[in-house]
Amino acid sequence: MCGIVCYVGNKDVKPILLEGLKRLEYRGYDSAGLAIQDGEEIKWHRAVGKIVELESKVNGLEMKGTVGIAHTRWATHGEPSEDNAHPQRDRDENVFVIHNGIIENYHVLKRKLEREGPRFRSETDTEVLAHLIALNFDGSLSDAVRKTMSQVEGTFGLGVIHRQTPGEIVVARRGSPLIIGVSDNGHFVASDVAAMVRYTNKVVHLEENEVATVTADDFSISTAQAKHIERSTETVEWRAEDAELNGFPHFMLKEIYEQPMTIRNAIRGRLEPGEGVPKLGGIMPVWDKLKECRHITLVACGTSYYAASVGKYIFEKLTEIAVEVGLASEFRYRKLNFPPNTFIVAISQSGETADTLAAIREAKRKGASLIGIINVVGSSISRETDAGIYNHAGPEIGVASTKNFTSQLTTLTLLALLLGRHQNLSLTEGVQAIRALEALPGLIEKVLAQANHIEAIAEKYYKYGNWLFLGRKYNYPIALEGALKLKEVSYIHAEGYAAGEMKHGPIALINPEMPTVAIIPQDEMHEKMFSNIHEIKSRKGPVIAIATEGDDKVREVVDEMIELPPVLDFLNPVLAVVACQLLAYYCANFLNRDIDKPRNLAKSVTVE
Ligand code: AGP
Repeated sequence: MCGIVCYVGNKDVKPILLEGLKRLEYRGYDSAGLAIQDGEEIKWHRAVGKIVELESKVNGLEMKGTVGIAHTRWATHGEPSEDNAHPQRDRDENVFVIHNGIIENYHVLKRKLEREGPRFRSETDTEVLAHLIALNFDGSLSDAVRKTMSQVEGTFGLGVIHRQTPGEIVVARRGSPLIIGVSDNGHFVASDVAAMVRYTNKVVHLEENEVATVTADDFSISTAQAKHIERSTETVEWRAEDAELNGFPHFMLKEIYEQPMTIRNAIRGRLEPGEGVPKLGGIMPVWDKLKECRHITLVACGTSYYAASVGKYIFEKLTEIAVEVGLASEFRYRKLNFPPNTFIVAISQSGETADTLAAIREAKRKGASLIGIINVVGSSISRETDAGIYNHAGPEIGVASTKNFTSQLTTLTLLALLLGRHQNLSLTEGVQAIRALEALPGLIEKVLAQANHIEAIAEKYYKYGNWLFLGRKYNYPIALEGALKLKEVSYIHAEGYAAGEMKHGPIALINPEMPTVAIIPQDEMHEKMFSNIHEIKSRKGPVIAIATEGDDKVREVVDEMIELPPVLDFLNPVLAVVACQLLAYYCANFLNRDIDKPRNLAKSVTVE
């Protein structure tokens, strides 16, 4: 996804912009650019490819100034090229605009503008904004931006500077997040906290259709109708080192290893071992309705959807609630008829996924109550739900979600446990579950301790071009997630399947060149999974088992075995997925993939 970084203050802005853009690289992009203002002079440069290309252009150039805007572009309208990179500018080069989002009526606007004379230099929708702001400018840049907002349809996160208004940046938000960072050395504006976390953790979130004028000493927020808004700063939990590799070769590996800590963060202050009941303050605003609820739909995309899919089994185990899971990109288009007192639980790391956001807006329109299980504090989904639970996993820089996934599983377990204890789950069962959650970080450490063994397995199989992942019940979604992890970081084709489906088709695929990862912990599905393994072995398919430690019965028949410490059945997915994450990571590493920024992928899919 595109990234925005702006700064106005008392420091030399060029290094701040370049550093900020690098913090946003994980969002995925194909070109970048920046504009720096010094009095009425504005200098700008753009480059296709990685930030280092832009850096090599501007390093050594005299680009004095303490005001600047910068952008990483993920092409939607117009190919990746210098002309299509941001900032975009008006014909007279007074206005410079950077933009996240899509202007849906830009064709109409572009044709209208072209009738007044040739001016367009790019294929982008964004350029329309630069021309409109220039035409609407009458001394006040914020008024010109507000007038332009009334003329355009679609989504935007905007940063704008104008030659005639030195010392200020005007930003505006409709459907694409923007955050103002407050520091002693000036103000930042970015699409993502990661771009400013090195300089400040004091932030202010812009809401929909709001405009802000930001200067070195102040910022003022107003509505699209110029009504002033007061908003206090929030403190985000992230620290600068969260966005550093700290000695790891990749953020993905760092974040895999952070999971014992992030699970502790997810349960910290939320467990009441004595009563066997979690404390979830974030859902208290809806607790009176939620505790009587008998219908929940979990809605998400990608890896978060697989967390939701595990959550469905956990809710069914611990509560009396009917739970449905919906892919947000499908759910939002369904004819939704909710039984009374239905809750929709949106699960999203970024809190900005367009399909998930659209799904909850549709659900709200149809009368459902909304809960968010989110990682990014203050994100759009967290602000549009009635209540929520933050994962507290910290910034997840690697595009492939790892630590956030296990935090989502933990948070879903806490929610199910709270509801279950209000229903028929006994004190003993509640205490047992809480004790198991408390022990989880130590159990993950045991799986991480097998990293060298898992790397050796990856080295044996990373050249195989097609993999199959199999699981049952709680671990069926882990088969799906394990396949996704392998696909998205190593580009190896992999399919996740419900093991019970093997006879209904996939078994035709089995051959000596197709490794199968079989997730077979010691639970009620063990014997059925064991039969699946035999079916595969009898057709000479290699099997990598993820099994409970000491399971010699499995060890005797499979080619490789990764051992999980014993745990309650519904918590096996938290351990099994760590093995899958490491397997995917090492295969990708042997293939020299761009692990933290896989091709074609973005960390947060904020466009549909
Ligand atoms: C995770 O490995 C993927 N990169 C992707 O599927 C991600 O889970 C999905 O885009 C949902 O993102 P969200 O959790 O921020 O909503």
